[in-house]
Amino acid sequence: QAIYTQGMAGRVPRIPPEPRALAAAAAKAMTRAGRGYIDGGAGTEATIGANRAAFDGWQIVPRMLADVSRRNTGIDLFGRRLAQPFLLSPIGVLDLAHPSADIGVAEAAASRGVPMIFSNQASHPMEACADAMDAVAKDAPRWFQLYWPKSDALAESLVARAEACGCEALVVTLDTTLLGWRPRDLTLGHLPFLHGRGIAQYTSDPVFQDLMATAPTGERPPITWATLKNALAAARRYPGPTWNAMTSGKAIAAVRQFIATYSRPDLSWDDLAWLRERTRLPILLKGVLAPDDARRAEAAGMDGLIVSNHGGRQVDGAIASLDALPAIAAAVPDMPLILDSGVRTGADIFKALALGATAVGIGRPYAWALALGGRAGVAEWIDNTAAEFELTMALAGCRDIADITDGTARLTRRGP
Ligand code: FNR
Repeated sequence: QAIYTQGMAGRVPRIPPEPRALAAAAAKAMTRAGRGYIDGGAGTEATIGANRAAFDGWQIVPRMLADVSRRNTGIDLFGRRLAQPFLLSPIGVLDLAHPSADIGVAEAAASRGVPMIFSNQASHPMEACADAMDAVAKDAPRWFQLYWPKSDALAESLVARAEACGCEALVVTLDTTLLGWRPRDLTLGHLPFLHGRGIAQYTSDPVFQDLMATAPTGERPPITWATLKNALAAARRYPGPTWNAMTSGKAIAAVRQFIATYSRPDLSWDDLAWLRERTRLPILLKGVLAPDDARRAEAAGMDGLIVSNHGGRQVDGAIASLDALPAIAAAVPDMPLILDSGVRTGADIFKALALGATAVGIGRPYAWALALGGRAGVAEWIDNTAAEFELTMALAGCRDIADITDGTARLTRRGP
């Protein structure tokens, strides 16, 4: 109601309340590199389309006269009460969208109590994001997403830092042991992590700094001046050991060491026990799409799953995560499930919850809002999304989240 009331007072929204309009407006605001990295997907981008088609394949069956005068969209997740069932999925290299990057998102998320998942490829170290959140709201919920590096010592250091930053859960992204085939980035001829400032989590890490002293064993690609400039710019904001290392002629070493360590294609189920022993935080595996993998995750002592195809950025032709959800929910009925990939509207959130998700993760839309309006843009987008979900829930005849899954048929398959 507040949003309509402001409209009556002549306030035009900065963030288009419809997702296609939001995407179009953001596309105009971003550079070609930003657009390519943020909007792009793997291959022909068939999976980006499949994600949307999966949501469109279900329709809500609204029920009437349910007394929705009092509504509650809250959920409990890992011991924390959240006002809305959505989280900000981890997005790397946000400086390609807006100069405030992760900091703008962190402040907006904290101001609204929506959990932010710090990306391993962030443009700002997690400590800077945690401080920014604390300055807005002490105790604002935050998680950390790990790309398991080749170096176990580095993995351990990243996890310890996340704990020190007050992260309440650890997300291990499994679907990116190798970077997907992304034609939009390939056409521009750059590795976006390096084109933007996506290695701040590494250059700010004490173990990574030690690693820089040893020559990387992997490939030794030539490093362009532009890449170096970005790495230096990322480090400059954080004076101290990183900056000293970088300016004492080690910037090239940082970039090479990053390339040598960031991906770990030999990761297997057996490695999870190692991580399980090293943290008391709940661990969620991100990228699980098969019921059998879900069962293995549960058997390995994992605490939750993010059912995701990485927003269609990894396997072109992969199953839509919404299509994968019902069988996973049936396979691991006791595990919290976060559905991610393609969520755009309040109706999408409703459909995901009706099909067995505990909550959803949303990616690109908040990056688009960031591109358009920085921190204020993301906050406005969060408000829009929360309002649209609450209206959808109520107008569908549900007072709270439990009503969505109370056994009433809330969805039907779209007819041919
Ligand atoms: C991502 N995603 C991602 N995931 C992750 O685990 N670590 C990361 O660093 C990133 N980086 C990243 C950058 C960009 C530009 C995008 C669009 C996505 C995937 C992200 O967490 C999430 O799974 C998808 O964005 C969800 O799909 P939608 O909501 O974008 O359709």
